[in-house]
Amino acid sequence: MKKLGIYVHIPFCEKKCHYCDFTSITGNNEIIRNYVNALVKEIRLYKVHSTDYLVDTVFIGGGTPSAIDEYYIRDILDEIRNYFILEENCEISIEVNPGTIDKKKILSYKDAGVNRISMGIQSMKANELALLGRIHNPEDVTKSIQIVKEAGINNINGDLMFGLPHQNIDSFIESLNEVIQLNLTHISMYGLIIEEGTLMNYWYKKGLINLPDEDDERTMYHHGRRILEEHGFKQYEISNFSIPDFECRHNIGYWKLKPYLGFGISAHSNIDSKR
Ligand SMILES: C[S@@+](CC[C@H](N)C(=O)[O-])C[C@H]1O[C@@H](n2cnc3c(N)ncnc32)[C@H](O)[C@@H]1O
Ligand code: SF4
Repeated sequence: MKKLGIYVHIPFCEKKCHYCDFTSITGNNEIIRNYVNALVKEIRLYKVHSTDYLVDTVFIGGGTPSAIDEYYIRDILDEIRNYFILEENCEISIEVNPGTIDKKKILSYKDAGVNRISMGIQSMKANELALLGRIHNPEDVTKSIQIVKEAGINNINGDLMFGLPHQNIDSFIESLNEVIQLNLTHISMYGLIIEEGTLMNYWYKKGLINLPDEDDERTMYHHGRRILEEHGFKQYEISNFSIPDFECRHNIGYWKLKPYLGFGISAHSNIDSKR
């Protein structure tokens, strides 16, 4: 049977970060409920593919999937199981934000089949997180990782950003080393992109923030790669590093042009030679 990836987009966040142009808004209960109801209907429409494919990865991304009540995530995964065949060791990832999780939520995800957590850490410096408009501080990151591990989910990614306003090479390396100390299986390291229409773009154009120059930004990336490799993380994509056998299978699927279905606003699919 052919293998299939499923992506589900949850377009809600507690607060919009200053740099982010992803499809996400700060929803209210009614919008979130209506959205999940529509999402579930959309999943049912794709039943036609269910007999031809075996689902080996599911990725619930956003936005911030952990910003909505956990029972919605369970409902979505139940619906996927009702309409598709999932491989026994299917990789099921969910993106979370450190400011939005607690033990109950993580245990509920685990119970619903989630076996991989991707956490947006971005930086371990309080001043950098504040400039990014994040809702959490470095201590929340440490606590959240502990909660995930205590719940028994040990396949964890952390997103880290570099080239941030007022960041220097040393402060980036300190953040990276702190993230490495968290003993994660995967680290994504993204260079900041100043996106049109964001508050950060406005600040940048007005000269209100200083960014590291191009040489420093590149030095951060190359130092980051070297430090990660020294700690056993192998680079398998431009921005992705993992310890052996913990590459994100869902992500690799995109690069290998494996078929996938995307559900929800802004999600796209690539199946039966059609995009
Ligand atoms: C959907 S978010 C991850 C989950 C959650 N929404 C959060 O931010 O904690 C995906 C990741 O994309 C990265 N990202 C978003 N906007 C970016 C930008 N303008 N430049 C570089 N990386 C960006 C961040 O590292 C972020 O964690
Ligand atoms: S970075 Fe994550 S939490 Fe921040 S606005 Fe974008 S999707 Fe939401």
